[in-house]
Amino acid sequence: MKLIHDENPSNRSGNRPFEDVLRASLSRRHLLARSAVLGATGFLASMAGNRALVNVASAGTSLADAESLAEAGTTLAQRGGSLINFPLLPAAEGSGPMPGISSAYQYDVLIPWGTPLQPGVAEYTGNPNTRPSAEDQTKMVGIGHDGMWFFPLGNDSNTHGVLAINHEYGTNPHVLGKAQPTSLSDVRLSQHAHGVSVVEIRKTNGRWQPVTNSRRNRRIHANTPVTFSGPAAGSAVLKTPAGNAPLGTLNNCANGYTPWGTYLTCEENFNGYFGVPSGTSFTPTPEQRRYGFSANGFGYGWQNFDPRFNLANPQYKNEENTYGWVVEIDPMDPNQVPVKRTALGRFKHESAEIVVGQGGRVVAYMGDDERFDYIYKFVSSGNWRSMRARGISPLDDGKLYVAKFNDNGTGSWLELTISNPALAARFSSQAEVLTYARIAADILGATPMDRPEWVAAAPNGDIYCTLTNNSQRGSTGRPGADAANPLAPNPDGHIIKWRDSSNHVGTSFTWDIFILARDTHGANDERTFSSPDGLWADRFGRLFIQTDGTQRKGLNDQMLVADTNTGEIRRLFTGVTGCEVTGVAITPDQRTMFVNIQHPGDGNPAQTNFPRPFDGVTIPRDVTVVITRKDGGVIGS
Ligand code: FEO
Ligand code: CA
Ligand code: CA
Ligand code: CA
Repeated sequence: MKLIHDENPSNRSGNRPFEDVLRASLSRRHLLARSAVLGATGFLASMAGNRALVNVASAGTSLADAESLAEAGTTLAQRGGSLINFPLLPAAEGSGPMPGISSAYQYDVLIPWGTPLQPGVAEYTGNPNTRPSAEDQTKMVGIGHDGMWFFPLGNDSNTHGVLAINHEYGTNPHVLGKAQPTSLSDVRLSQHAHGVSVVEIRKTNGRWQPVTNSRRNRRIHANTPVTFSGPAAGSAVLKTPAGNAPLGTLNNCANGYTPWGTYLTCEENFNGYFGVPSGTSFTPTPEQRRYGFSANGFGYGWQNFDPRFNLANPQYKNEENTYGWVVEIDPMDPNQVPVKRTALGRFKHESAEIVVGQGGRVVAYMGDDERFDYIYKFVSSGNWRSMRARGISPLDDGKLYVAKFNDNGTGSWLELTISNPALAARFSSQAEVLTYARIAADILGATPMDRPEWVAAAPNGDIYCTLTNNSQRGSTGRPGADAANPLAPNPDGHIIKWRDSSNHVGTSFTWDIFILARDTHGANDERTFSSPDGLWADRFGRLFIQTDGTQRKGLNDQMLVADTNTGEIRRLFTGVTGCEVTGVAITPDQRTMFVNIQHPGDGNPAQTNFPRPFDGVTIPRDVTVVITRKDGGVIGS
């Protein structure tokens, strides 16, 4: 999400565990150079030992596919070459109203905002004089394309599947054509443009297209019935005096997917949709303050027409607690009621990267994107297959931890449990601990990070997390530099990596800084990037890095590829003026990649009209781009 929506940091807990260790952090960076020596042979050997990793085993990838891909990786390694051999897109070609892409690659566009998903709905093509109706928007692709995943179908797994895609947000000027809603139907249009689309897509005559009338197509939005599961389900803190059934999902940022074939959508800046009607006084509770609620939110104005979003309406007390969760969606069942998995805690969820760890337990690594907020992980109580065989969701029963990074390159996972006397002194139930996970993590002394965004699991067991930036680190009254967040302020961000003990299920880890974006900013450094956000690790050791924020050299937001063995980085793709590049999905053969252009031109047609060529008039629309190599090769190679 754009910085414009990042309010003042709400973590005032004062955790300042490493203020005195700035120097140590910089010397630690030498470790990275040494760890980069891990060769391709070692990488492939470790990959073979990690068949259990969801990234390899799920999404319909057959063992044969995985092995033929492994052979491709071996060939590269035996040649002694880099994992990335494409010509970089020069920085000089990465600006303007249309995307840029490496000369070895090509892109096409797919499912812009306003694409019909059901019969009887006209496509919205960006005409500034018309808008979709609120009703039609429930049958169209939403706006704010963000995290997504591709679920293959049948025997054509590389040319046919279901794309589940998040619609994080759309500003009122972009969606409504005005600053504020003036009716409940305006609010409904805005609400219906948010959420998730599930879209069947197929490659026909060389082009990926949506299957318009597929029974699998589905919109989930702010008013779709949902249900709660896990320890906080049914608890008092999730009930309103109005007794309304839970509805909707909001600010669906990044995502995850499970080994049993479901999609996880993560609710990030949900606080921004709540407020009080103008002229009403508002004093937030300590819990509301910690989650960033304010009188006017992000200015959507929903509270003026929809009482659910009015924090001053006593009938809807606690409604705000029904957002901020990880939500599980079955992309193959259009009638499934989305499930909010409370065991994974409530915070500003960026993504949920799932791996299968020791004993077949599922582990979710998750960032809470706010300045000075935390990195979490959830570990299921048992083997995911046996839990499911017993009718228990592996995401309902387990332990939630928050990360503490020590300055010496070690770290520990601190459990958020009501059995801890320090938490029992503040909360009355595990439901409250989970619902107010940020406050529980404050009490435990978690490490305040520089805005944790996506987490990506590499096949060798390394976990990477983007820390997008933090303009306030080191400012008066705020935490200063520490080993894991060594720059104060940190305007360009960094990427941290760690390796868990006990194959992801332990309570300790070792960590290092993968890269400081600042280090790519030399005058002639073509790698330049800032504000890393989207992140995905392929099965060979490539890391795909997407950006969200001001870039150097006049660049638009972009996607780069890093070789984690050598540290080499090359630019593959740039978006359009005013956009953010976010979301990665891939076919099992890794030869088609889907990436999103979010908020092109920030909605302003004078900047870009993408996906239309520049005309200065057509409203730009958030859209997925389909990236392929011209020679049909593996993406990133
Ligand atoms: Fe939705 Fe933190 O980006
Ligand atoms: Ca961001
Ligand atoms: Ca975003
Ligand atoms: Ca993001």
